[in-house]
Amino acid sequence: MSDVFYNNSIIQIIAFASKRLESISATPVLDAEILMAHALGIDRHKLVLYHNTLVDKKTLTKFKRLLSRRLKSEPIAYIVGYKEFYSLPLKVNRHVLIPRPETELLVDCAIYHARQRATILDIGTGSGAIAIAIKYNRPDCSVWATDISKDALKVAKHNAGTILGKHLIKFLHSNLFESIPTMTFDVIVSNPPYINPNIYTQLQKDIHYEPKEALLAPDNGFGIIKSLIEKANNYLSDNGTIIIEIGEDLSSRIQIFAPLFNFSISILKDYSGLPRIAIFKKIKNITI
Ligand SMILES: C[S@@+](CC[C@H](N)C(=O)[O-])C[C@H]1O[C@@H](n2cnc3c(N)ncnc32)[C@H](O)[C@@H]1O
Repeated sequence: MSDVFYNNSIIQIIAFASKRLESISATPVLDAEILMAHALGIDRHKLVLYHNTLVDKKTLTKFKRLLSRRLKSEPIAYIVGYKEFYSLPLKVNRHVLIPRPETELLVDCAIYHARQRATILDIGTGSGAIAIAIKYNRPDCSVWATDISKDALKVAKHNAGTILGKHLIKFLHSNLFESIPTMTFDVIVSNPPYINPNIYTQLQKDIHYEPKEALLAPDNGFGIIKSLIEKANNYLSDNGTIIIEIGEDLSSRIQIFAPLFNFSISILKDYSGLPRIAIFKKIKNITI
C-alpha cells in the first residue's frame, strides 16, 4: 500500500481509503469510518471530533492492516468482531453467520406470537442473535437454543452471558431436534441454512467468509427446512407456532409441503418485498 496515508488528517485518510473501497463495497465511506474508529478504539460517532487530527504511526499501521482485510472482501463485522442485531451488540467470528437485518422480522413475529411465559426454541442459533433478542425483550419466556456447531455455541453462550447474564438461555449441542428432551414448545423459531449449493460460487465474495454449514442446504436449499417441518410436530404444543426464515425462491415449495404435515402456513415479506418469514400453525381437526 502506498504512503498516501502518512502525515494526513483522519478525514483525509478516510477519504483516501473509501476511494479504494469503492471497488468492493456498496458503503465505502461507512466502511472506512468504521475501520478508522476501530483502529482508534473510539465510537464511530465520535470520529467527527477528531477529523483534523493527525494519526500516530501505531494507529495508522493498525488501520492499514484492517483496510487490507476489507479490500479482500472480508466482511466488516468479522474485522471488527462485532455486529449489532435488534439494537444489541453481538460478538461475531468466522464460526457464526453475521446476523442480518431481515432476521429482525423473525424476532418481531416470535415476540408477537409468544403467549405469557411461553417456551421458545431457536434451532441453529449461530451467534445467539434470535434467542438473545427474544429473551432480552420477553424475559417472561423460557428460551432454549441449539446448534450443530460447537464453535457457534461458544459464541452464542458468550453473547448471552454478556448481554443477558449467565444461564438465562438453555443451550444445547444438537442436530435439529436430536438432543432435545421429550417436551413441547409454544414457539419454534429458526433461521436455518437455505442457500442452494449450486449457486454458492455466484454469491458475492463477502459471503464466502461465512461458514458454509450456516448457509447451504441440500435439495436446492430446501433440505434442512424440510427436515425441520417433518420433525417439528413432536415438539410443538397444540396451539404452537413455528416461525422460519426462508429464501425467497422457496416460498411456493413450502406452501405445497406444509399441509402434508398438517400445518397451515402464512408467509410474510421482508422490507425489500421478498417472501422471507414462514409462519406455521397446526391444523386442528374439528369433530362434530
Ligand atoms: C443461517 S445460520 C443462522 C444463525 C442465527 N440464527 C442467525 O439468524 O443469525 C444457520 C445456523 O444453523 C446451524 N445449523 C446448520 N445445520 C444444523 C442442524 N442440522 N441442526 C442444528 N443447527 C444447524 C448452523 O451451524 C448455523 O449456526
